[in-house]
Amino acid sequence: MEDIILNAPSLKSVIHCGEGSFKRYAPKLGGNIFIVTDSNVFALYGELIKQIFANAPMYILPAGEKSKNRTQLFQIINKMIESGVTRAYTVVALGGGVVGDIAGLAASLYMRGIKLIQIPTTLLSQVDSSVGGKTAIDYLGVKNVLGAFYQPAEVIVDPLFLKTLPAREIRCGLGEIIKYGAIDGDIYASLCENKNRLFDLKYLETVVADCIRHKAYVVRDDERDTLGVRKTLNVGHTTGHAFELFFKRKSHGEFVLIGMFYELFIAERAGVCAKDYADSLRLLIKKVIGGIPAYENADKAARFAKYDKKNDKQSTVSLIVPGETGKCREMKMPIETYVREIGLCAAEIKGGLC
Ligand SMILES: NC(=O)c1ccc[n+]([C@@H]2O[C@H](COP(=O)([O-])OP(=O)(O)OC[C@H]3O[C@@H](n4cnc5c(N)ncnc54)[C@H](O)[C@@H]3O)[C@@H](O)[C@H]2O)c1
Repeated sequence: MEDIILNAPSLKSVIHCGEGSFKRYAPKLGGNIFIVTDSNVFALYGELIKQIFANAPMYILPAGEKSKNRTQLFQIINKMIESGVTRAYTVVALGGGVVGDIAGLAASLYMRGIKLIQIPTTLLSQVDSSVGGKTAIDYLGVKNVLGAFYQPAEVIVDPLFLKTLPAREIRCGLGEIIKYGAIDGDIYASLCENKNRLFDLKYLETVVADCIRHKAYVVRDDERDTLGVRKTLNVGHTTGHAFELFFKRKSHGEFVLIGMFYELFIAERAGVCAKDYADSLRLLIKKVIGGIPAYENADKAARFAKYDKKNDKQSTVSLIVPGETGKCREMKMPIETYVREIGLCAAEIKGGLC
């Protein structure tokens, strides 16, 4: 068990990692607690929550991304007012990334901001979304368009919760973990060495802490995502998000992996990434999701990259691609070039060439 300290400019955030951390640290959070969780997590862990937090007031979101909306945000705030929550209270976000994002935003707004603790229960939220202070809801069909940077004072990352997670959600978290592998040489080496244990919860416990340590450095140096450092966490995300918007069917983490696979092709063709290294990352990706879809409409889907938050203008697409071990590079190109490259990649995948 270890603590990782994220010395963000706005607040020092302490991240407790490891088996047993929930039962060790949650009871120490004090009496004035307001819990936000979701219906699935409550069905699985309701008894444990009551055991640790006694009769603390609670809001239970319907599970799923659809709940990350303004109606649910205001329902949470209504419940906080009804429950007599004051500035002396702490909001505990106990759930996956959806709970963490919306409860974090509620905490940032309530009485101009009250203390926030994240207790992530999915692999994706443990490895990524609970750390770093990004909170948000979706609005008018645009993901994460309303939000705030709001650091949790503490994050409790206990592998206990992963035991009930469906395999698909593990795959989703592994999408972000492989992303860390593309930007951190030590994580890459660990993933290659353990490529046959990627779904082993014991192994995941160590690699989750490694990824959090990496993210803590990135966020410390660029908390508000303005200096370009935090952009590196977006490897594979330009294509991943574009495909997610167009095809919808898969989860965010799966699309991150597919996006990275397609973008590796572009980086390799441009001479930005060597074939051997690209091949080894592609192998890791395939270990997690098996076959990569050769989408017929890949080029049409790629056009959605014009909405990517990294673009300076909609006609130029920004990609964060693996370069060499532990390093990524930003590639900028006209949208027409990018669309053509993505189409070529789909053809290569269809032909079994990559
Ligand atoms: N803030 C950030 O920096 C950041 C980064 C990445 C993603 N995100 C956001 O995170 C969200 C995705 O997070 P997610 O993948 O955790 O989704 P999620 O919160 O919807 O959880 C996925 C599913 O797993 C269930 N679940 C949660 N914990 C469980 C457990 N222990 N056992 C069994 N089932 C459990 C949930 O009820 C849900 O059905 C998206 O909204 C995305 O935008 C935010």
